[in-house]
Amino acid sequence: MGPNRIPRRDWLLGTSASLLALGSSSTAAAALGQPEAPSFGPQAASDTEDADRVRRMKWWHEARFGMFIHWGLYSVLGRHEWVMEEEGIPVSEYELLAKRFQPQPNAARAWARLAKAAGQKYMVMTTKHHEGFCNFDTKLTNYCAPKQGPGRDLVREYVEAARAEGMHVGFYYSLMDWHHPDGARCATDPEARKRFVEYTHGLIRELMTNYGKIDVLWYDVDWPLDAAQWESERMNKMVFGLQPDIIVDNRNGLPGDFSTPEQEIVAEKGSRSWESCMTLNDSWGYQRADDNWKSPKTVIRNLVSCSRDGGNYLLNIGPKPDGSIPEDSVRVLTEVGQWMSRNGGSVHTLDRCQVHASEFAGFTRQGNTLYMHVYFWPGDTVALAGLMTKVKSARLFATGQEVKFEQDLFRVRFMGLPSDAPDHPLTTLAIECESEPIQNTRFVRTDRPRNGVGV
Ligand code: GLC
Repeated sequence: MGPNRIPRRDWLLGTSASLLALGSSSTAAAALGQPEAPSFGPQAASDTEDADRVRRMKWWHEARFGMFIHWGLYSVLGRHEWVMEEEGIPVSEYELLAKRFQPQPNAARAWARLAKAAGQKYMVMTTKHHEGFCNFDTKLTNYCAPKQGPGRDLVREYVEAARAEGMHVGFYYSLMDWHHPDGARCATDPEARKRFVEYTHGLIRELMTNYGKIDVLWYDVDWPLDAAQWESERMNKMVFGLQPDIIVDNRNGLPGDFSTPEQEIVAEKGSRSWESCMTLNDSWGYQRADDNWKSPKTVIRNLVSCSRDGGNYLLNIGPKPDGSIPEDSVRVLTEVGQWMSRNGGSVHTLDRCQVHASEFAGFTRQGNTLYMHVYFWPGDTVALAGLMTKVKSARLFATGQEVKFEQDLFRVRFMGLPSDAPDHPLTTLAIECESEPIQNTRFVRTDRPRNGVGV
């Protein structure tokens, strides 16, 4: 019997016996009428038969948690990165921001240090957002950082800062462009389209040529063209020609290597990789009045949910115009990082996790070990229903302290715990099981004895 098989348990009785023959978690989940967890990462090799993609994406699956950075001229106004369009600002007026954008040198070093402290393993920075301003040096336009207020290549500073902290380096690039003269008329004017597609491919070529090895290319908004018009096949071919190890997202109209659910956590089906990108408040670019910050607990719960279902979590900061990080972002990510320094190993997991039913805990899995992340601490006993494998041992992940437990057919209880949560903002239990942890709450509902209740 392989490591992923549920072994015959003679302490399981009656109808539960039929569950014992179940094999892998996906088969088990389907048979139990529960959502099937997606397969991903290294497991995807045989599914997709795309060994090259598996090779390129290995570090990314292991990384799980990344930092998104939205920074550009919109940061000067501090009213969200869509301010140009949503306030109808004329191009000639908006352009003046390019001279006013004068960030401190090497602001990216603090971003990279914070990312590292938060337990993040990669960064993705806006090289050009919808506003059309290039944060990098380019021969193709004067509307770029070295030739305007910053007076230097901000992307280069970012790349160097990220590498100095051991971060993988990602570039965000918006195809949509509100500034370039051909950026809208390319939809209807074939000559404009030709020029604008060449301009776009040219900027991407510079990004893929001038900064050494780049790990992620994160295309955004392909309005107003479709993949054929953008010549996205040719675009990706050029990118892979210049950066054979890179991974690309799905926002240039092609599937790319991974999907990008935005502001929500939705697992992809099958072997498809995915990354949930999210703001830390409600804005990507700096929005001085947005105080709707996620708590450290919410961030960690989201990260746990992504990891459980095999996805990544790309969490955004929107630096101020001088490059400094809003204080609340520092506060939240620092607290997340303190938790990660004790518990990171329980979310940097690679195996999808079928266990999910609890209103006070989230779950991740590595092999036969189930990690139970308790966010509403119930007191000295923590219980879980319907675990269809036998628990061998349990401990508090952060301290290694052993935890007593009792298990019967329907319930496992971890006991003798402190009445107040031992860790904050979540306490993680590491639960070593005899085989892959599978949960079946339907079985608990149907088979829990009801006799003796006095009908
Ligand atoms: C959307 C927004 C954009 C943001 C992006 C991040 O496409 O238009 O402002 O950069 O989402 O995923």
